[in-house]
Amino acid sequence: MRESTQTNHSHQEIRAKRYAQAMKASGHSRIMELLPLIVHISAEKGSMLDMMSGTGFVSQYLGRYFDTIHAIDKMTGMIPEDSHISRKLECDASREDIADLTCFKYDTIISLASFHHIHPQAFPLCTEEQVVDYRVACLSKWRELIRDGGYLVLADVSAPGQIPNGSIQITPKISAFPDLEAQLGELPSASLFTPKSIGTEPSHFFDEFVAHKSITPHVGVFETELSLSLLLKKAGYTNIKTSVHFVPWHFQNMDEAIWFIHNLFGIGTKQYESTAEIPQELVEQIHHAIEAHLCSWPAGKGGIWIGWKLLYASAEKN
Ligand SMILES: C[S@@+](CC[C@H](N)C(=O)[O-])C[C@H]1O[C@@H](n2cnc3c(N)ncnc32)[C@H](O)[C@@H]1O
Repeated sequence: MRESTQTNHSHQEIRAKRYAQAMKASGHSRIMELLPLIVHISAEKGSMLDMMSGTGFVSQYLGRYFDTIHAIDKMTGMIPEDSHISRKLECDASREDIADLTCFKYDTIISLASFHHIHPQAFPLCTEEQVVDYRVACLSKWRELIRDGGYLVLADVSAPGQIPNGSIQITPKISAFPDLEAQLGELPSASLFTPKSIGTEPSHFFDEFVAHKSITPHVGVFETELSLSLLLKKAGYTNIKTSVHFVPWHFQNMDEAIWFIHNLFGIGTKQYESTAEIPQELVEQIHHAIEAHLCSWPAGKGGIWIGWKLLYASAEKN
């Protein structure tokens, strides 16, 4: 029992290192995920908590628009030294006493691509109600970390079948975020918005592929617009808004996309430094999973788009 716990632990560390390496080399590919977030961010600086921060991707690109940034993650070692994050708290984001730990009230909490990890330890050996209760308790605790009138902004992979309903057009608010705008590069053209892109299903990618091929068991529970709204309401938030956005990833070529996915999700037990080194069979499996669940498109100015879709929510504490 102890041996298997240790093995899981070291696999988690290896997975985290590979994740960090993927983000360092090609994290920029995910920049579209940030656009729907800025709609909810006040350009008046203030404080932000990067909740379940990973390598600090959110803070890296949006950090300069806040005066103070703190981060919480169960593994803060992945945050680079030059991040805008001034305080790192290494703990479980769902722990009971999280508000006592930070002793700070934030203007904004942002949590990107992480909420699906919040579930009882016994999951999947627990009921749906237990997952709901656990998540409501966690969101309530997060609410205590927000000042009155402040916001929680959540973005995560959605449950299957959620149709993008938020505009992909660049938000007029982008002008308030000039550094982000400068780094955006190419935007997906309108011709990408077809039934094929609507069919992009990251939750299937997780459940059908990552769950079986990752070096750590990847279990996640994904929400719909309605279920997430209800969780936020039960946790005491008001002014709740949700939307689903198609936010594709941009790569120079399919090789870069395959290498990124191989490391970001810890696919395969061994890590390879380039796609050329990955065994052909594994390359084909990753490529097949991309086309089956995410799809790919040539980008107008070179490179490729890989489909990705996230559910966004903002909710006020007052
Ligand atoms: C997919 S990563 C996303 C990181 C980052 N927000 C991003 O968008 O790049 C999920 C992160 O959640 C963290 N995590 C998972 N479960 C957690 C928990 N219960 N408490 C704190 N952090 C957790 C992981 O360590 C990981 O860094």
